Amino acid sequence: MLNCAKRLLQGVLLMSMLSAGAQAAPIDLIIDTDPGADDVVALFLAMASPDELKIRAITTVAGNVRLEKTSRNARLAREWAGREEIPVYAGAPRPLLRTPIYAADIHGEEGLPGVAVSEPQKGLANGNAVRYLIDTLSSAKPHSITVAMLGPQTNLALALIEAPEIVNGIKEVIVMGGAHFNGGNITPVAEFNLFADPHAAEVVLKSGVKLTYLPLDVTHKVLTSEARLKQIADLNNAASKRVVDILNAYVKADMKHYGIPGGPVHDTTVIAYLLKPELFTGRQVFMQVDSRDGPTFGQTITDWYGTLKQPGNVTWITEGDAQGFFDLLSARLARLP
Ligand code: BDR
Ligand code: CA
Repeated sequence: MLNCAKRLLQGVLLMSMLSAGAQAAPIDLIIDTDPGADDVVALFLAMASPDELKIRAITTVAGNVRLEKTSRNARLAREWAGREEIPVYAGAPRPLLRTPIYAADIHGEEGLPGVAVSEPQKGLANGNAVRYLIDTLSSAKPHSITVAMLGPQTNLALALIEAPEIVNGIKEVIVMGGAHFNGGNITPVAEFNLFADPHAAEVVLKSGVKLTYLPLDVTHKVLTSEARLKQIADLNNAASKRVVDILNAYVKADMKHYGIPGGPVHDTTVIAYLLKPELFTGRQVFMQVDSRDGPTFGQTITDWYGTLKQPGNVTWITEGDAQGFFDLLSARLARLP
């Protein structure tokens, strides 16, 4: 009788919390990144969303430019967003096995096109990103930490190689990377992050961690337009000005290369997915990464129709609500200095 009354009371409490619009607990998040124009926009969106995202740390990796520059740009983004309490750990200076490649032709020599860069006030956190991932994930509650992966997957792969048991601390890994229906952006079939370190992507894939991929298939459907850039510019704060300047410089190359009316903001879709998954759709598929030398190096092979009859190992996102994405980005950028 007493138990029954207790359960009733718990039910009533739960109902009243829900009807009072009680917030879900924020996502416990580590952002691994190689800023990078679209990485910085992604960092802005994440840092402007403290109610939903508890950012434990930003970890940096060599990718779009060398590690010193991606680490500086991550610290700059943090300073620009007024979130200097978030530690930035520098990680791997090069991929696991392949010769390093960079994307200065797209992101500029400094890794951040369209805006002036300078040395940020605050330095890096002491210690290395790979060690940070191992220590944090091995002492975390089971399946509690989400990792947003916005660059080559080298840091997490190194952590998994040294301490495979850290998978237990990970809730899920959300990756910007790969391409299937769209074709590649660095070779005809490979997307840059996978091409820059396919061996690392394989280690993460084979670890069995819960994985979601936001590939070019979706990022090339979530494009800027003059109206969308104006929507951001109209916010008229320092963050919105920087985003517009960065994007105006960044999207040009893709618009020309693909003949499309606007450009993708790739990495930012990962953060939007965390904040509003209802903007995106995809399906669970079996995916493989080609790390053999040759013309398909770095390709993601996605068994969309289940031809191989293998159990799915990633959620592969193919559709995104572009205007919903830009509405979310604008609303959040309005909160930044
Ligand atoms: C990805 O490659 C990088 O150049 C971007 O920052 C993004 O992470 C897009 O292919
Ligand atoms: Ca990136």
